[in-house]
Amino acid sequence: MMGDERKRGKPLVLVASPFQGHMTPMLQLGSVLHSKGFSITLAHTKLNSPDPSNHPEFVFLTLSDNFSAIDASANYTKFLEALNNNCKMQLQDHLTRKIEEGKDEMNHTITVIHDNIMYFAEEVASNLNLRSIVLRSCSASYMPAFLALPRLHAEGKLPVQDSMLQELVPELHPLRYKDLPFNDTPTEVATEMLALAERVRTPSAIIWNTMEFLEHSALTQLRQHYQVPIFAIGPLIKMARCPSTSFLEEDTGCISWLDKQAPRSVIYVSLGSLATMDETELTETAWGLAKSKQPFLWVVRPGSVSGSEWIEFLPEGFTEEVRGRGLVLKWAPQKQVLSHSAVGGFWSHCGWNSTLESISEGVPMICQPVMGDQCVNSRYLSYVWRVGLELENLEIKVVESAIRRLLVDEEGQEMRQRAISMKEKAKYSLFKGGSSFNSLKDLVEFTLAR
Ligand code: UDX
Repeated sequence: MMGDERKRGKPLVLVASPFQGHMTPMLQLGSVLHSKGFSITLAHTKLNSPDPSNHPEFVFLTLSDNFSAIDASANYTKFLEALNNNCKMQLQDHLTRKIEEGKDEMNHTITVIHDNIMYFAEEVASNLNLRSIVLRSCSASYMPAFLALPRLHAEGKLPVQDSMLQELVPELHPLRYKDLPFNDTPTEVATEMLALAERVRTPSAIIWNTMEFLEHSALTQLRQHYQVPIFAIGPLIKMARCPSTSFLEEDTGCISWLDKQAPRSVIYVSLGSLATMDETELTETAWGLAKSKQPFLWVVRPGSVSGSEWIEFLPEGFTEEVRGRGLVLKWAPQKQVLSHSAVGGFWSHCGWNSTLESISEGVPMICQPVMGDQCVNSRYLSYVWRVGLELENLEIKVVESAIRRLLVDEEGQEMRQRAISMKEKAKYSLFKGGSSFNSLKDLVEFTLAR
């Protein structure tokens, strides 16, 4: 049978997680695979559910999770365990019904593709003798560091002593101790997180939202470690025509403001969907932006400043000082912003989606990692790929200088040149014969071969 006939309508069940940085690549992957002829069911939690009207081509399956919000201060591992427990039987019942309906023999060949933190989906697939594939939404370079954590704990290296922070970690070049995920997490909590990560038994394959040219060395290590096919398919953002995936409403009014700014003059600031800051950090950021004298677009997520609804703690005099030169907004259409010619730099927490979005648009970065894989991403951006500069600390003078180095100085122009050349490479990896193009072809074949 010809490939196209075999795959027409072959069912895939995608199991998404309720985090923005995980939902986005899952929806993008769904769009890519739908364009390849698969029929897509998107199973998602009620919490942070996607907007079905943006994806009329998918069937949506809502799983009741019994949560009304993600509580950033709550115990993360307990939250994940409850989420997985609450959703498991619902998915199992749904899939069992589908298989028993038996009208369509293809239902016996359902493949489950699940977010790595939704590990219950793998258990369900295994119970029903279905194949499961994991989607990882972090960088590949993060995983060797994550996998080394038990060894580092056993050697007594974690939590990291202050005196060791700048030292290189043996066997994890180029990471320093300060770049390690969870480097300040108490041993008991880190042990819990690692135990949770091991709940995902070895899947039949792993999909990674990345490109070979960018993370070849980490991907090679991971292929050896997992011994299953790893499909490096990225940047997903550029592979599918996928409408907005935002949980929050995007303030698109900022685009007409950007239209009035000079080319590559604006610093875009956003710390993603989870990071929080205190009042002092807000103040240092605000005055750093003001003193840089560059135009700025600054996203302050509602609730992200401790103890306030939105920007009540902005320092006195700030608004007058920057009038006409900057915008503060609740949530931006980030992909559009980064592709706008007025944007000259992205001050980011280095979440993996933001990193890929910036690279895909050739925008150099200021790196202010907050947690988890972001520290690893920041190290690669600044030290290996050299398209970003590390923000040493959050003080007015440091911020002011970082913005000017990126947007005005020659150093920033060189970073931009490298970022533009990465953008080109990313584009070529999607063309016929490119690594992501080939990897997607292999994934399609792999999925059809059962
Ligand atoms: C978290 C982790 O930090 C990240 O590294 C992990 O791999 C996924 O989960 P998050 O804080 O959500 O990430 O950051 P990021 O991965 O960058 O994702 C944020 C998404 O929100 C991006 O796709 C970005 O375009 C979008 N966004 C952000 C907006 O659309 N508007 C905004 O104003 C801010």
